[in-house]
Formats: sequence, C-alpha cells, structure tokens
Amino acid sequence: MKEVVFLVAIILVAGQCHGAEHGAEYPIYPLRMKTGAGGHYIPEISCASWRLGVEAHNVVDWTSIPEDCIGYVGNYLLGDQYRSDSKTVNQQAYFYARTLNFTDKDVWIFDIDETTLSNLQYYADHGFGSEPYNATAFNEWVELGEAPALPETLKLYKKLLNLGINIVFLTGRPLSQKAVTATNLKLAGYHKWMKLILKDTSIYHGKTAVTYKSAERKKLEESGYKIIGNIGDQWSDILGTNVGNRTFKLPDPMYYIS
Ligand SMILES: *[C@@H]1O[C@H](CO)[C@@H](O)[C@H](O)[C@H]1NC(C)=O
Ligand SMILES: *[C@@H]1O[C@H](CO)[C@@H](O)[C@H](O)[C@H]1NC(C)=O
Ligand SMILES: *[C@@H]1O[C@H](CO)[C@@H](O)[C@H](O)[C@H]1NC(C)=O
Ligand SMILES: [Mg+2]
Repeated sequence: MKEVVFLVAIILVAGQCHGAEHGAEYPIYPLRMKTGAGGHYIPEISCASWRLGVEAHNVVDWTSIPEDCIGYVGNYLLGDQYRSDSKTVNQQAYFYARTLNFTDKDVWIFDIDETTLSNLQYYADHGFGSEPYNATAFNEWVELGEAPALPETLKLYKKLLNLGINIVFLTGRPLSQKAVTATNLKLAGYHKWMKLILKDTSIYHGKTAVTYKSAERKKLEESGYKIIGNIGDQWSDILGTNVGNRTFKLPDPMYYIS
C-alpha cells in the first residue's frame, strides 16, 4: 500500500513537471540550461548565449571575447555552423533581391572584412579575437592581399551582378590600403564593382565607423543612387543614416567595431 501511494505521488509530481495541464510533453527545468543537468557549469551553453547576445546587439562595446569562450568561438568559426549561418543570411538577401526590379541607380553595399573577405586565417593565429587588437600585425596580414572570399557572400555577389545591380564596397580599411584591397578582391573572385570606398583618415580620423559609413552612404544617395541592400558583419555597417531599404547582418563573434 505504501508503495502504491508513493508511486501515485511520483506520477502526480512528474505530471506537473511536464506541464501536463497544458498538454505539453516536454519537461520544464527553469535553470537547467544554465547549470547543466548535474549542476555543472557548461561553458558551451553560456558562450552560445553570449554569441546570440553579440549578434542581436544586446552585448555591445566589448573589446575581446570572454576567456572561457575561446574554444567555443574557434569551434564555431572552423566548423559548419559559421558557414551555415553565413549561408542563411546571404540566401535571405538573395530572396529579397530577386523580387526587385533594378535601375542603374540602384546599389547594393558590401562591407569587406568578415563580409566579402575572411581574415579567419589571421584570427586563428591570434586567439579568435581574444587577444587585444594589434594594428601592426593585422596590417601586415592585410598587406599580403591573400584573404580568401567568404564563399556564401561570393555567391550572393555573383547573383546580384547577374540581376544587374551596382556593387559598392564600403570598408573601414584606410585609403592607403586601396591597391592591395582591390588586388585581393579580384584574387578572391570579386572582379567588378561600381565603387570601392575606403576610409579617408584625413576626414574621418577619430570618428566611429557608424559616422564614417553613414556619411559615405549619404554622399552616394545625394549623388542620385538608391541603396536597396546593405550587408556587413558589424552593427556599425547597418546602423546610422542611409542604411538602405534592407540590411543584412553576418555573424562575427571575433570583434566589435562601433
Ligand atoms: C517587376 O517587374 C515585373 C514585370 O514588369 C512586374 O510584374 C513586377 O510587379 C515588378 N516588381 C516590382 C517589385 O516592382
Ligand atoms: C604587434 O605585432 C607586431 C608585428 O607582428 C609585433 O612585433 C608586436 O610585438 C605586437 N605587439 C604586441 C603588443 O603584441
Ligand atoms: C526603398 O525605400 C524608399 C524609401 O522608403 C522607397 O521609396 C522605395 O520604394 C524602396 N525601394 C524598394 C525597392 O523597396
Ligand atoms: Mg567587416
């Protein structure tokens, strides 16, 4: 008899935990995701939350990735998830673009670093964004002109060219890197563009990327162009003014540029 009462009690409790009154079949463990089943801390889970926070622009102004998340971010970038996330964004951009009828005044803006060209090789050697930014070392890498294309962005680029839209590259790289950037773009498969805009540091020294990019997009629109799409890996690529009819944010858990 005792056993039967105990069993009934267990079934009742289990039923409540399963949210049975709403017909839900899954258990609800309020804190389980954070602590893990055995009460253990699982870095992968908090790092996934951190990355979501970064991509949604809830985590802002960070200078390097959390120490605990270096392994997680490295696995993300070198594994299939980064490629898959990148594909989803670029696909959505194409699904949007193909519904439009372009005129020769329509432009699509591409950022360069971590949007059209990948610096993953450099960052893999520098802790995936966990080391403080070293301008000297990064510029040495840029000057090699060997950054490969992000494959899913290259697909979008080619499809947009086929649709007949003008391509504008708008990058935070300084004007002094214009030649190597143009060479690198061609080497990576980006052969054609209407404009390649680099940062004139005599005008924009000390200004944020949001200020610089907004001002350059405004100039474009004031000269008669319409920005109908805009894609970048940083929120500063798609915030500010004249951002375009639709914006697309590519993943980047390595660094933050305001
Ligand atoms: C694009 O052009 C086609 C054919 O002229 C037309 O049917 C369609 O409505 C246009 N789409 C837009 C978004 O203007
Ligand atoms: C930055 O990179 C340069 C060139 O690789 C190197 O000589 C220098 O020591 C680095 N600085 C720091 C603070 O790591
Ligand atoms: C882009 O936005 C402008 C301003 O809101 C609007 O007039 C125009 O029709 C839009 N173009 C497309 C292709 O959606
Ligand atoms: Mg970028």
